[in-house]
Amino acid sequence: MKYITIALAKGRLAKQTLALLEQSGITCEEMKEKDTRKLIFVNEELRLKFFLSKTSDVPTYVEYGAADIGVVGSDTIMEEGRKILEVLDLGLGKCNMCVAGPASASALLQKNEIIRVASKYPKIAKDFFYNKRHQTVEIVKLNGSVELAPIVGLSEVIVDIVETGSTLRENGLEVLEVICPLSARVVVNEASMKMQRERITKIIRDLKCAVNSETR
Ligand code: PRP
Repeated sequence: MKYITIALAKGRLAKQTLALLEQSGITCEEMKEKDTRKLIFVNEELRLKFFLSKTSDVPTYVEYGAADIGVVGSDTIMEEGRKILEVLDLGLGKCNMCVAGPASASALLQKNEIIRVASKYPKIAKDFFYNKRHQTVEIVKLNGSVELAPIVGLSEVIVDIVETGSTLRENGLEVLEVICPLSARVVVNEASMKMQRERITKIIRDLKCAVNSETR
C-alpha cells in the first residue's frame, strides 16, 4: 500500500494537530521523541508519513504532491494562493487578520489617504486595500515583529494576525478594522484526492469527528 504523506506546520499548531490525529486513531510515536532532528516520521502500520515544515511552505508541498495532506492556517493558504483543496476547518488557532495601528491612523483610513501598510502578508493586505476598500496604498513586506513598523515610522498601519490583542495593547496600537477570521485548515492535493480518495476521506472524516467531540 502506498504511503499517505501529511505535512504539518512547525510549532504549536503541529502539536495541537497531532493531538487531534491521535484522538482520531492516528498516532506517530516517532514524532514524540524529544530533541529529535529527524524531519520525516513514519507509521508503518497505517502506511502514513508525517513531516514538519515551515508554515508558509505547507501549501507548496501539498500543491506539488510532495504531501498528500497538509494542516496550515487559513492566513497562509490565502497568502500563498496555491492550487489545493481546502477540506476541513479544524477550529484550532482561531484569530483575526486585522488592520491595526495607532488610534490616530483611523482617520487616514476614513479619508482613503495614500498610506504605507507593513505586513508579513502583502497579498492579503493588497487584496483588502485594493479590492475591498478601493484604497491605493504602498505595501511594505516585513518578516516578523510587524508591530514595530508604525511605532518607528516605517508605516502608518499594519496588516497582521491578532489573537489575544496583547502585542497591540502593549505597544500602544489597536485594531482599526477586522479583515477576516482565521483558523487551521486541512488541505489536500488535487490528484491525491482522486487517486487515494477512500483513505484520504476516511482521515478527514475521523478528524472531523475528533473536532466535533472537542467542541461538544
Ligand atoms: C503573531 C502576530 C502578532 C502576534 C499576535 O506574531 O504576528 O505579532 O502573534 O498575537 P497576540 O494578539 O496574542 O498578541 P508571532 O508571535 O507569530 O511572531 P512574529 O511577530 O515574529 O511574526
